Amino acid sequence: MFDYIDGGAGSESTVHANRHALEALPVVPRLGVTRGSPPDLGTSVLGKPISFPVMLAPVGFARMMHPAGDLAAAAAASDAGTVHTLSTFSGHTLEEVARAASGRRWFQLYFLGGRGGAEALIDRAAAAGYEALVVTLDTQTGAMRERDVRHGVRLPLRIDLDNVLRFAPEAAVRPGWLLGFARDRFHMDLANAAASTRAGGTALDEALRDLRGSPPLWEDFRWIRDRWPGPVLAKGVLSADDARRAVDAGVAGIIVSNHGGRQLDGAPPTIGVLAEVVAAAGTDAEVFVDGGFRRGADVVRALSLGARAVMVGRPWAFGLAAAGEAGIAKVLDLLRADVERVLRLIGCPSVGELGPGYLGRPDASLTAARPRPADGGPLTPN
Ligand SMILES: Cc1cc2nc3c(=O)[nH]c(=O)nc-3n(C[C@H](O)[C@H](O)[C@H](O)COP(=O)(O)O)c2cc1C
Repeated sequence: MFDYIDGGAGSESTVHANRHALEALPVVPRLGVTRGSPPDLGTSVLGKPISFPVMLAPVGFARMMHPAGDLAAAAAASDAGTVHTLSTFSGHTLEEVARAASGRRWFQLYFLGGRGGAEALIDRAAAAGYEALVVTLDTQTGAMRERDVRHGVRLPLRIDLDNVLRFAPEAAVRPGWLLGFARDRFHMDLANAAASTRAGGTALDEALRDLRGSPPLWEDFRWIRDRWPGPVLAKGVLSADDARRAVDAGVAGIIVSNHGGRQLDGAPPTIGVLAEVVAAAGTDAEVFVDGGFRRGADVVRALSLGARAVMVGRPWAFGLAAAGEAGIAKVLDLLRADVERVLRLIGCPSVGELGPGYLGRPDASLTAARPRPADGGPLTPN
């Protein structure tokens, strides 16, 4: 699970580039202008408030990280006053997750089971009260995640003699995780697919095949928007051109994302393309960004370049794996406190007042290739 969460595609160059590009962008303080009162962290996304500008990105297989999975994530986001985005690849059905939290919930759509399967998911998500639909475009095919390959991980997940033997030593030193997984009856299903299978839909293998055979195209946004009553977002945009296509396709929001470096190894770091996407979207769509956001200063960097809010994936996945709902709550608390601290340190009274004036020029020596940290992943060549 650790390598599934932490890893990325190929040599993980994009995973590292996301962080390096953020760190290369200086945050410049204004001194002697604010005193005392706490900065205002609240903002609005898609016309409704969130308490601070960090939201939960969709993360698949959360139930294998901890049995509470997305139920915990939705509850923690709700308590923190922010948005939880449920992955199509959830271990709990979208209806179960809807019942777990009263806060804001978005649904991330993969075409599991092709167009027919996607239509069924859209109808169910609408009936369950999800507010927005996030269409992920960057998963046209399975990525080469070498850590997963090394561990023999393949979809659909199954327990067999090979992986029992393979993982036994690691499970033995993680008895807490193993016990939770066992108590959850080794749950590994894609619950949303299982539900449609029970309802007479396609079997899981077939659904996965259809998923691979029909990644979303811009033209699909037409029928998606006809069918989905709320706002639609496009996730995975990395250029001004695609931002304009997204706007032409009628989206309300664009998520600048390279999937946390988990799909196209070599894709640009998201903070580096954010400004051009913001400019291309203009006032037609709100822009969000994810990929390597770990600290308050990172959030400040993105908002200063025009993002409305950022999303985090791995941070909440690690919080969940470590301590369930309390772990995600802790991650959100740490991020909130750090955003507040950085705003005070740069003399900015509210996230709404962030802008390019708080940023310096990117440090080229940091954006250029830099030696990787020693933990660059077990399969990094040399
Ligand atoms: C374990 C894991 C599973 C993910 N599953 C999905 C998914 O099912 N759908 C999706 O659109 N994005 C998925 N993502 C990508 C995230 O939504 C997000 O783009 C990325 O994690 C952001 O980068 P960060 O992890 O550095 O914060 C996943 C990411 C991780 C780490």
